[in-house]
Amino acid sequence: MIASKHLIALLRSHIDGDNEQFLSVAMQVAAHEARQGHGNLAQQLRDLVDEARSLKQSRSSRPVPFAQPKGDLAALISASYSETRLSSMVLPTALEQRLKRIITEQRQQHRLVEHGLHPRRKILLIGPPGSGKTMTAAALAGELTLPLFTVVFDSLITRFMGETASKLRLVFDAMLQTRGVYFFDEFDAIGARRAERNDVGEIRRVLNSFLQFLENDNSESLIIAATNHPELLDPALFRRFDDVIHYDLPNPSIASSILKARLSGFDTKGMQWKDVVKETSGLSQAEVSRAADEAAKRAILAERTKVTRDDLLGAIAERKASTER
Ligand SMILES: Nc1ncnc2c1ncn2[C@@H]1O[C@H](COP(=O)(O)OP(=O)(O)OP(=O)(O)O)[C@@H](O)[C@H]1O
Ligand SMILES: [Mg+2]
Repeated sequence: MIASKHLIALLRSHIDGDNEQFLSVAMQVAAHEARQGHGNLAQQLRDLVDEARSLKQSRSSRPVPFAQPKGDLAALISASYSETRLSSMVLPTALEQRLKRIITEQRQQHRLVEHGLHPRRKILLIGPPGSGKTMTAAALAGELTLPLFTVVFDSLITRFMGETASKLRLVFDAMLQTRGVYFFDEFDAIGARRAERNDVGEIRRVLNSFLQFLENDNSESLIIAATNHPELLDPALFRRFDDVIHYDLPNPSIASSILKARLSGFDTKGMQWKDVVKETSGLSQAEVSRAADEAAKRAILAERTKVTRDDLLGAIAERKASTER
């Protein structure tokens, strides 16, 4: 007999549209039945879960149709579907928890709204180049199966000099119409402290209208802004975000996990990871994962399945040399 706590959990995940949770509860029921000695029933349940999982995979590999931005909007944002998952990112625990909280609040937003509360959805990401900000926007879109709309600010400002504020309105109108993750990359271009630009008038207009739009926005979309230059941002911006999340260069344990994950398809037996990782100090997550890929390429082209210490140290040295230039 199915326990009522399982039944409740099944219904809860169904209501939340959390497919993964639904299937994971179903697996718990299977385990429960197996323990009761109901082997056949348990097997049937596991088979059904497998079937559901493979069905979901084949569905998600098909592009989901969605309205491509048209007209003026098409020149402002690029739309895509993301397959990136949070699990493919190597993150410090505290950072992972904060991103998971955003996902949970989004998935369960109706429960919050019932109590007059709102899920976090205006997020500012701050951190050095290659530390995973863009990947985070993609992972949030992937986890929430929302389209990812990227707005490149620099081009918004330079291409539409004089009319950026009205273009910005188009983007914020789109947020109301199409729920998605709206990613404002190179955000410093707009957030730059007003006086520090030559085109002061234009920047101020854009910044002020962005602040207003951001404040007034009541859509169900996620607004994610990323910057490498928080010092250029107007302090007024920070308090308009629900969350300000900082990214750092990887510590040795993160760098090590990135290398291992990227090389998981290769033989790395006997690798002295500690020594290798020491050499990555100062490199970003992007450079560490690139070094792993380069090492893998060396092995493949030499027709080896083993990635050696020399492959990896060579690739790391190359990345370092190219970042120091
Ligand atoms: N936490 C991470 N775990 C695993 N891989 C990562 C992580 N962060 C970054 N990477 C790798 O680095 C690549 C580049 O990262 P990303 O584009 O997200 O950096 P960014 O912070 O947006 O940099 P920029 O400021 O230059 O735009 C990713 O595509 C991924 O391969
Ligand atoms: Mg980026």
